Amino acid sequence: MNVLILGSGGREHTLAWKIAQSPLLTKLYIAPGNAGTKDFGTNLNLDPVNFEELKQKTLDLSINLVIVGPEDPLVKGVRDYFESDKQLKNIPVIGPGKVGAQLEGSKEFAKKFMAKYQIPTAAYGTFTLETYKEACLFLDSLKAPYVLKADGLAAGKGVIILNNLDEAKSALKTMLQGQFGQASKKVVIEEFLDGIEVSYFVITDGNHYVLLPEAKDYKRIGEKDTGLNTGGMGAVSPVPFADKQFTQKVIERIIEPTISGLKNEQITYQGFIFFGLIKVNNEPFVIEYNVRLGDPETEVVIPRLDGDLLDLLAAVPNQKLHTVPFSIKPETALTVMIVSGGYPEAYEKGKTIEGLDNVKGSYVFHAGTSFKNNQVLTNGGRVLSITSLGISINEARERSYRNAKIINFDKKYYRTDIGSDL
Ligand code: AMP
Ligand code: GLY
Repeated sequence: MNVLILGSGGREHTLAWKIAQSPLLTKLYIAPGNAGTKDFGTNLNLDPVNFEELKQKTLDLSINLVIVGPEDPLVKGVRDYFESDKQLKNIPVIGPGKVGAQLEGSKEFAKKFMAKYQIPTAAYGTFTLETYKEACLFLDSLKAPYVLKADGLAAGKGVIILNNLDEAKSALKTMLQGQFGQASKKVVIEEFLDGIEVSYFVITDGNHYVLLPEAKDYKRIGEKDTGLNTGGMGAVSPVPFADKQFTQKVIERIIEPTISGLKNEQITYQGFIFFGLIKVNNEPFVIEYNVRLGDPETEVVIPRLDGDLLDLLAAVPNQKLHTVPFSIKPETALTVMIVSGGYPEAYEKGKTIEGLDNVKGSYVFHAGTSFKNNQVLTNGGRVLSITSLGISINEARERSYRNAKIINFDKKYYRTDIGSDL
């Protein structure tokens, strides 16, 4: 089977690493990939949202399966493009179509869906500039802190949480006036949920689903969860506070109603679903849906899979997911993200990365790197994700941090407290 993975981050490197181990694989391509993915397949210089170019490459390279890493191509309709094209329609895409992708692409769509299927989530209202007055009344009725969410995709920056009511009203106006372009012309205001966050992941073929390991990610740039939000500074799986009993609630109240709700809406959903949850008094609530795997969650979820990921994914188009054996390793996986100094604000690229060959006992997944003149260079804010497995969180932590020290580039930074709260 010839497989094409779309994307260029740590998630895609991890998927490439895992899929390269499959006996079902003939050739692996990653578009555009990074300096890490090239060790497991061929990187293609291709923008995943340029569907015409994607079509050409898919046909030229006789691709049999396309795995979509990031949300952007999904929200823009890559699956629909394949399904409606005569030459592409028999080439399966792992990822939902445009309508299903609205679970991530529109907060309002997701909230309405959850309301309809009684999936627990924060109370909310949706507002535009025309209904700003009503929005203020709604804010008056809530207790601080105030949660404002741009309806559309805003590169992970569209959620603003404020303690002061007047500041919230003024931030709301700025958003509605186009702070995040079209994405914030509509804003969802939510009740604040006070709890701890954990994420669950499934692969679904539209009928059956497979529960993958859960993970906790560390979103803030600074130690002890301080400072600006990032794409994720580290992750751990399993999550001790997400025990069997809690997981059973997640399955019954959230995962299964979501999958049957999608079916009921006649949305053919074939791909990953990422449930961003918050645990409040031992009860799970949905904070957000994503229609893809998380990054860096993938870097701890996928290394814990025992079995053939490609075998699982290849069963999705024919809705045969339930026939594929797989299990989860009992070990803990922990990943530490090494980032460029300055991230998530301005940072420099093109720094030479040293010490990669000296890493022992960890996987190094490239998140933002390039390869030039035989050198691996930084090429993003998040640069490398150092994943280790261990019999305990401490063992995995110790391994990842030992190797994080060995790798060097100008202005490297990482949090030193990943997993220490668990
Ligand atoms: P989202 O992009 O929807 O995942 O939101 C980003 C982050 O904002 C989440 O990971 C939470 O930490 C926080 N957040 C979002 N919604 C809420 C809420 N209703 N209550 C408390 N925290 C929230
Ligand atoms: N780490 C959060 C995300 O992938 O959205």
